[in-house]
Amino acid sequence: MLKKWLSYIVPINIKTEKSHWSKTLEVTWANGELVLDSAHTNYSYGSLQRILRIGLLKIGFERIAQMNHILVLGVAGGSVIKTLVREVGYSNKITGVEIDANVIAIAKAYFELDTIPNFDLILDDAFEFVLKTKEQYDLIIIDIFQDTKMPNFLFEAFFVNRILELLVPKGLILFNTMCLTEADNNRNKSYLELLDLTVVQVQTIPRVEAHNEVIIIEKLGNHATT
Ligand SMILES: C[S@@+](CC[C@H](N)C(=O)[O-])C[C@H]1O[C@@H](n2cnc3c(N)ncnc32)[C@H](O)[C@@H]1O
Repeated sequence: MLKKWLSYIVPINIKTEKSHWSKTLEVTWANGELVLDSAHTNYSYGSLQRILRIGLLKIGFERIAQMNHILVLGVAGGSVIKTLVREVGYSNKITGVEIDANVIAIAKAYFELDTIPNFDLILDDAFEFVLKTKEQYDLIIIDIFQDTKMPNFLFEAFFVNRILELLVPKGLILFNTMCLTEADNNRNKSYLELLDLTVVQVQTIPRVEAHNEVIIIEKLGNHATT
């Protein structure tokens, strides 16, 4: 409790460990809340939670509360899962996919992710998982970072087409991206250009918390599944 109050004055780190995927993982009290950071960016709670909350608000909490199954690719400390359960009031199924076993151990030990009854956490590469899953989802949240880097597969036509196949008609993708360089801006521009506007409707929320662009993609009723 003392650490929590002191953290309003200065951040207090309580755990640091090495990670193959994220260089380091740090659990820190900051401004009265426990946050998870990688070597160079915030992973969970703090600004990351605010960014995804803005995306969820844009979709509409009431609409989300009525969904049946939400897939979260990139779980870390699970701040978006807490937003879904505690703020949106969503009580149906959530599946989370996380590549880093160390992150999962931290999520359970410090962020009590294993106490959320409607949440299933799977240790897997999101790319592999989306190839295997036979489920259909109402909302797919893509929030995948390896420190500040976003893997290339996220921006390829193959991946977006596969994700669209997994969505129910009128289902949504909430994609959190980071734009730190001109190359990142161009990457996002090319990504938006590859989306077929006869099968999806797209909204972007640029410059969320300075460096993030949130992309919301809604599958129209007529996307052919192959
Ligand atoms: C920004 S954090 C996710 C934050 C989380 N959505 C939240 O609401 O707190 C990014 C996560 O993506 C994970 N990640 C990176 N590459 C991945 C991959 N290929 N498949 C699944 N997870 C991956 C990282 O280990 C990290 O935990």
